[in-house]
Amino acid sequence: MSDSNKTAKLTVGDQSWDFPILSPTAGPDVIDIRKLYGTTGMFTYDPSFTSTAACDSAITYIDGEEGVLLHRGYPIDQLAAKSHFLEVCYLLLYGALPDAAQLEDFETRVTRHTMVHEQMHRFFTGYRRDAHPMAIMVGTVGAMSAFYHDSTDISDPWQREVASIRLIAKMPTIAAMAYKYTIGQPFVYPRNDLDYASNFLRMCFAVPAEEYEVNPILARAMDRIFTLHADHEQNASTSTVRLASSSGANPFACIAAGIACLWGPAHGGANQACLEMLREIGSVDKIPEYIARAKDKNDPFRLMGFGHRVYKNFDPRAKVMKESADEVLELLGIEDNPTLQVAKELEKQALADPYFADKKLFPNVDFYSGIILEAMGFPTSMFTPIFALSRTIGWVSQWKEMIEEPGMRIGRPRQLYIGETERDYTDVEKR
Ligand code: ACO
Repeated sequence: MSDSNKTAKLTVGDQSWDFPILSPTAGPDVIDIRKLYGTTGMFTYDPSFTSTAACDSAITYIDGEEGVLLHRGYPIDQLAAKSHFLEVCYLLLYGALPDAAQLEDFETRVTRHTMVHEQMHRFFTGYRRDAHPMAIMVGTVGAMSAFYHDSTDISDPWQREVASIRLIAKMPTIAAMAYKYTIGQPFVYPRNDLDYASNFLRMCFAVPAEEYEVNPILARAMDRIFTLHADHEQNASTSTVRLASSSGANPFACIAAGIACLWGPAHGGANQACLEMLREIGSVDKIPEYIARAKDKNDPFRLMGFGHRVYKNFDPRAKVMKESADEVLELLGIEDNPTLQVAKELEKQALADPYFADKKLFPNVDFYSGIILEAMGFPTSMFTPIFALSRTIGWVSQWKEMIEEPGMRIGRPRQLYIGETERDYTDVEKR
């Protein structure tokens, strides 16, 4: 960020004020209005943050018009093709690609933290068996603050580092345990000789009664899903983590807040909602009916997996995800999967429809991810927990960046009050 020497003039009636304009390394300039209220006595009004930069960050850059997503400067398609999830974690967390020794050390540290405190098992069993795995994740990740109290002091860099590693390492274990619990199978302990994605697949699908061999192509597809969801700058859940952290709350509580926010169908819950929608459509001949519903202002139905607040031409992650869906389904010999056929035809018909073109609505990362996850054997209820475990590195990196910034202050938005002005209390018998 640099001072551009340009200013923006605000004129209200016969009064004018100049505000500095700051230039980022990439992306639009921002008007620095930090002194707006003190100088003018006015607030800005931007309820969904469509025009507000709430922080400065050096982690992820998105150009929504051009469909660009960079992590620490590296394009997502290069990372998806050439890197792997734990290397991307290192990149996001520490700012540079690791050399071989740094990567090995990082992988060892993550691997050594994959087990959860044995007493956490009892915590899981307090839930009903039919609980949604996201409900279990919000609770158990928040509860990590009770189990790992020795890494909750955010003023200590060492504790921050340990908390970061613990969160990255234990999230797959917790997600897999949430799944196993809901299907009534025993928890499967992590194995340190397996890579991150293979270990997760094994913890989800192995049973003590027989050997489980991880299919390397499925492990690669799983790893790519993790990579594609790793970070996405100041989205709703990341902003939630930042806001929660700004009060000085411990990292486990803050990440639990992020998980809660991610759960919603407009955000991380969209992958589950999308697959359910594709199944409901069921066959290609029903597509026009659903497209008509999505366009009808009086119908709340939306095409799930379509549209994005930031991407207005295409979502670069969706392209990689679509290729991955083809690969996985071919490997599993289910290329004629009816859900995939519906998805492809729906994409084709929607993209050819002026409604979607005019509103710049395109398939997002969630449009194809559910198809891959279902083909791998995951139930829809696990889609959002998998997103949460992938996004944990983004939340942790953004949290770390924020805490390390000098002069961090609590986040406190203001409001445009539209309620009653002051009035006298009326006794109940007079109302
Ligand atoms: N289907 C039909 N119409 C849509 C869709 C959709 N999926 N998405 C947006 N629109 C329409 C809206 O009705 C609105 O129309 P209008 O201008 O006539 O009122 C216009 O497009 C703009 O939509 P907004 O909701 O204002 O756009 P916003 O940027 O707030 O929302 C969002 C983005 C939430 C992603 C939205 O497109 C949506 O609900 N998509 C479906 C859910 C989804 O796939 N979410 C995943 C997001 S990606 C992620 O979290 C990883």
